[in-house]
Amino acid sequence: MKFRLFLNPLDHSGVSHVPSQEFTDAIALLKADHRTVEDLFAKFEKAGEGDKQAIAEEICNDLKIHSMIEEEIFYPALRGKIDDDLLDEAYVEHDGAKVLINDIMQGGEGDDFYDAKVTVLSEEIEHHVKEEEEPGEGMFAQARKAEVDLVALRDQLMARKEELMAMLESDGLPPAQLTAVHI
Ligand SMILES: [Fe+2]
Ligand SMILES: [Fe+2]
Repeated sequence: MKFRLFLNPLDHSGVSHVPSQEFTDAIALLKADHRTVEDLFAKFEKAGEGDKQAIAEEICNDLKIHSMIEEEIFYPALRGKIDDDLLDEAYVEHDGAKVLINDIMQGGEGDDFYDAKVTVLSEEIEHHVKEEEEPGEGMFAQARKAEVDLVALRDQLMARKEELMAMLESDGLPPAQLTAVHI
């Protein structure tokens, strides 16, 4: 199965290596991920029957990788340097999305509630992205004002993303692990 080269809308070559210098810093990289997944949600909405599941699974895989690199690398680097509550809420919001992501990955097009789950996931992500990107007080705005090396973080995020993309293409990704929510 061939996976679209996600998170890199400028590259249509199908080559899986994404040079990290393409992004000026960690925030540019994460924002590009957000735009890619927004485009996919729009594509899902317009897709006809038969095309929806592949798009939904692409969304889920993109979001799994994005939440992992944020939780493993980006959020910990901000801890103690930006609003603690905002960071805590981000983990809980990720977990809410992961519940739907794992459920969508187990299901298939035509299942009861399938489209509704993808739509609600898009609404959850829209809210979460706003909290990260909101000018002034959002997470990224706070990160820009903090003492954080966003260029070094970009390289760490990209290295981990490439590892996870390779895993996705070889064996697929395991279900998303919840971090803060216990169910
Ligand atoms: Fe994000
Ligand atoms: Fe996030």
